Amino acid sequence: MKKDFQFTFDDYGSINELSEEDAMLLHEAQKATKNSYAPYSRFRVAAVAKLSNGKIVIGTNQENASFPAGICAERVLLSSVSSQFLDAQIETIAISYKNENGESNHPISPCGICRQSLQEYEHRFKHPIRLILGGIEGKIYVIPQTSLLLPLAFTGDELK
Ligand code: THU
Repeated sequence: MKKDFQFTFDDYGSINELSEEDAMLLHEAQKATKNSYAPYSRFRVAAVAKLSNGKIVIGTNQENASFPAGICAERVLLSSVSSQFLDAQIETIAISYKNENGESNHPISPCGICRQSLQEYEHRFKHPIRLILGGIEGKIYVIPQTSLLLPLAFTGDELK
């Protein structure tokens, strides 16, 4: 038997096509790229969450001279949300970046480890997390739920 996995997401031509609320969140992520600590890659990433309680939380990538000790923006964000707001659901995360070595004109999507961490958060709170992915300019992807990026995910259910 063959099984098939596919998902649908929105592809916008520019930030001007987003709702005011989504454009505001993406703009916050674009601005927050300046908070990143990325002296090695010069690839500044920011992830900004809007919580169900209305709070906005920022995470940025934090690199280290011992490269594997660096942490992606998405996991910095999730650790911060989980530490500060014990029961808050994450509604939406906007992710942007500024590549100081090149262009920042198309969406990037979370790395594999971050997909696993995002999936854990979604599973834990039983609430979909929307992603808004965009650079400093150019098109934008809106993905309705992060677990779509990690089919056949390994979850804590297996450890029961
Ligand atoms: N990075 C993120 O923060 N998030 C991603 O989704 C992809 C990559 C960071 C890690 C590293 O500091 C830099 O970008 C280059 O890989």
